[in-house]
Amino acid sequence: MTQKILILNGPNLNLLGTREPEIYGKETLADIEKQCKALAKTLKLEVDFRQSNHEGELVEWIQEARKGFGGLIINAGAYTHTSVALRDALLALQIPIVEVHLSNLFKREEFRHHSYISAVAKGLICGFGGQGYKLALETFKAK
Ligand code: DQA
Repeated sequence: MTQKILILNGPNLNLLGTREPEIYGKETLADIEKQCKALAKTLKLEVDFRQSNHEGELVEWIQEARKGFGGLIINAGAYTHTSVALRDALLALQIPIVEVHLSNLFKREEFRHHSYISAVAKGLICGFGGQGYKLALETFKAK
């Protein structure tokens, strides 16, 4: 059976392309989604790609991933640095989690150096722009 991977994006990531392009690049979230879906095909994976500006909706989607998904890739945006609720939801998941950020958090302001997600994720990819999502998908490649 094809493994299903849920890719979640948090607040303001819907603005990619126009939002601080010097930090986040010129690719839109739709561009990244398209590339992930194309790569998923070659990896024999199925991708469900979503974005929300609402913490509660992200919590519900993480809970949903408990059924039928083989992995979760998450860029929680600013909630990365603030949300115990997202961390608790992730802790209740039994599937591998990969944390992704477009920018290199550690080159930026100090408040971005702490993530509530990293310690509950299998791994972290940051600083590679949209390519980071594809690197994360590779980790789920069908064996
Ligand atoms: C981000 C980094 C966060 O600090 C920031 O709040 C974002 C985007 C990234 O992808 O680099 O919204 O998650």
